[in-house]
Amino acid sequence: MIMGGKRLSGEVTISGAKNAAVAVIPAALLVEGTCRIENVPAIKDVDVIVDILRCLGARVKYIDGHCLEINCEKINGFSAPYEMTRKMRASYYLLGALLGRFHHAEVPPPGGCNFGTRPIDMHIKGFEALGAKVGIDKGVIEAHAVKLRAAQIYMDVASVGATINIMLAATRAEGTTIIENASKEPHVVDVANFLSAMGANVRGAGTDTIKINGVEKMGGGTYTIIPDQIEAGTFMIAAAATAGDVLVKNVIPKHLESLTAKLVEMNTSVEEYGDSIRVSRDGPLRKANVKTLPYPGFPTDLQPQIVTLLSAARGTSVITESVWDNRFQYVDELRRLGAKISVDGKLAVIEGVETLSGAPVKATDLRAGASMVIAGLMARGVTEIRELRHIDRGYEDLEAKLRALGAQIARRGDSEIKSIGEVV
Ligand code: EPZ
Repeated sequence: MIMGGKRLSGEVTISGAKNAAVAVIPAALLVEGTCRIENVPAIKDVDVIVDILRCLGARVKYIDGHCLEINCEKINGFSAPYEMTRKMRASYYLLGALLGRFHHAEVPPPGGCNFGTRPIDMHIKGFEALGAKVGIDKGVIEAHAVKLRAAQIYMDVASVGATINIMLAATRAEGTTIIENASKEPHVVDVANFLSAMGANVRGAGTDTIKINGVEKMGGGTYTIIPDQIEAGTFMIAAAATAGDVLVKNVIPKHLESLTAKLVEMNTSVEEYGDSIRVSRDGPLRKANVKTLPYPGFPTDLQPQIVTLLSAARGTSVITESVWDNRFQYVDELRRLGAKISVDGKLAVIEGVETLSGAPVKATDLRAGASMVIAGLMARGVTEIRELRHIDRGYEDLEAKLRALGAQIARRGDSEIKSIGEVV
């Protein structure tokens, strides 16, 4: 529950990147020695992927809340249980990692946020190009290879998941694999850096072309996960939304350039430092048009949050969602707070209103949940948010971090409702 209208001010420290962590942790399956992974975010998706690894026989030890040691020398199965994989999208990385190391993987189709069709055809094409046979048997994706051989793979659509998955499998294939039209997202680069730190040979991540020289063995090492670009962006938007003044610490400002440019266009002040960004606003919010694009474009994972911000900006804004077919489902919830938004396919037109008014809403998925929190912070009165499990998948201590910035936000431990808190 949130009592809106409080200006956020102070400092917030951003956690490790969820979408890097959920790839780096299963990537440890490729490694014979021990991987020490630092700056791991304390979120539900990490708990799930750690449970899956343990279930496969990996030894996983928490050194502290944010540091893990994983040893996958002895793995006792190649089959991930459906009850676990259905909880998250990133379980598809088990396919690339198990295939790379053991030449065999059995993984049920992944779960995760629902915003239209989320095919994995390019992952499968990539594995097949490396010499694997991939099929579905009793609802389980089975990938098997007698031997993995390097290939040149062109991706029809730049897919983050497929780029990473092919990279995982190719680290142990014979020869040099080349991925063309690869995704350039910061977490793609982070996974490549992790693999190289563990003994793989990956070059070019962050550009269109990634080259992977297969190695016979990966021995282990220590790696620190990058800060979460999307968590940082969510706090930057929350600061702008409440006419606040917030120093967002432990970030890589370059990863946030597309958002910074939009916030400035909307009349927000953004100052960049070495590893922090200060966001503040005094004047009224101005309209802006936003189109989501693969990195370095504006991230789709900040689309619900920026739409929420624009819902109270002066003028009419147009948002084009060009990554996912159906990522405006949360708009119905925003309308409950008084937002004026019309949606036509991948286009949303937002007519800015003076102010939002608190109401009961639900989180329809992870980032939509974050946008409901932002809406609650902006709105007059009390907003109650249900289905917080979506938010818990990807944000570490969201309400504690916001409370430290002055937000009136709390969580009620009601097992039926699971709403953010008890305020006033
Ligand atoms: C990753 O999903 C992220 N998830 C998503 O973040 C993010 O929205 C997305 O990348 C885009 O940036 C993780 O990293 C775990 P894609 P992913 O493959 O890899 C099409 C969040 O909120 N496509 O890059 O599944 C697909 O339909 C989550 O943290 C194919 O056609 O996304 C989409 O239109 C939500 N065939 C586009 O590519 C394929 O085989 C991009 O998808 C694969 C994808």
